[in-house]
Amino acid sequence: MPPGGGIGLIDGALALSGDRIAWVGTGDLPRDYANWPAEDLGGRLVTPAPIDCHTHLVFGGNRAREFEMRLEGASYEDIARAGGGILSTVSATRALTAEALAQAALPRLDALIAEGVATVEIKSGYGLDRDTELNMLRAARALGRMRPVRVVTSFLGAHAVPPDYAGRAADYLSEICFPTLRAAHDEGLVDAVDGFCEGIAFSPDQIARVFAVAAELGLPVKLHAEQLSNTGGTALAARAGALSADHLEHATAADAAALAAAGTVAVLLPGAFYTLRETRLPPVAAFREAGVAIALATDCNPGSSPLASILLVMNMGCTLFRLTPAEALAGVTRHAAAALGLTDCGAIAPGLRADLAVWDVGEPAELAYRVGFNPLHRRIFGGRG
Ligand code: NIG
Ligand code: FE
Repeated sequence: MPPGGGIGLIDGALALSGDRIAWVGTGDLPRDYANWPAEDLGGRLVTPAPIDCHTHLVFGGNRAREFEMRLEGASYEDIARAGGGILSTVSATRALTAEALAQAALPRLDALIAEGVATVEIKSGYGLDRDTELNMLRAARALGRMRPVRVVTSFLGAHAVPPDYAGRAADYLSEICFPTLRAAHDEGLVDAVDGFCEGIAFSPDQIARVFAVAAELGLPVKLHAEQLSNTGGTALAARAGALSADHLEHATAADAAALAAAGTVAVLLPGAFYTLRETRLPPVAAFREAGVAIALATDCNPGSSPLASILLVMNMGCTLFRLTPAEALAGVTRHAAAALGLTDCGAIAPGLRADLAVWDVGEPAELAYRVGFNPLHRRIFGGRG
């Protein structure tokens, strides 16, 4: 395969009109555009602007102490079961207002934008009570007004069982999670519904209840599945026609076939794999063989993936999961758009949004190849920039 093979690389030009791509093709612009203001991009690489399709960008505090504990030998699950982990971020998040949550998230968002990211998914899930879940989503929406970026929200009330409902996950869902989801939906705060299907979180039967409420509200679903063990979340997500199933280190070939049949995107999160020093790899070969679309995302969160670099995610996707650089690029553009149910971005084609990244690189593989280096020359968001 030639350098950059498989991504439809062309030597050409493009025309933008308003916030859309009007024309793209090889060679020079057609005559119709002769009178349009033109710019020479100097032969640089233009890609769709990256999309970070799985983040927990909005939260309070940090978990540096937990990082130290893991270095001393504690596991992520040990810390969670001892009341740390997600629940420690819940306390820090509950202490902040929606405005303060947005301010706290802004540097993380800016780090993503600095690498060209134009669309960011942001989840709730560190409130686990009505007011804080709503505030997280309000903060996420506010971030989309504070910066030239598109924010897509996911309600993740089924992220962990709060301490006051310990041992009563089903009651937490009925009494807090579902009424909060309905309230958030009424306020226009929810674009999709997510859950954490895991031994330390919710069972497939409980997640099925979450999906039933989402279906009733007409909201698409996605799921954290098969991250630490195989509990059947991926199969459940596929049965529900989920947009995506995320993490998937413990998914099987049968799970891959189910995802392919459902058209559910596999979102791989190498930042969490790296941070938790996982050794079990997601079944990438099975995904390829079954024809599953593979996306990559930061999973930016204070515990398992304190990472705000989409370029490092591309590198990790290749180095840790053995994706090709072309797969990594598709993973943060075309397939990331699909993981969010978006059809107007993630590719360069007439009629799509003009969300573009212009890079100072000679070939596409350079985007995934370097570590700790940002070759972004220019970011265009909705035709501007
Ligand atoms: O995607 N898996 C569950 N949720 C997050 C971690 C959240 C946390 O540890 O704070 C994740 O990895
Ligand atoms: Fe996550």
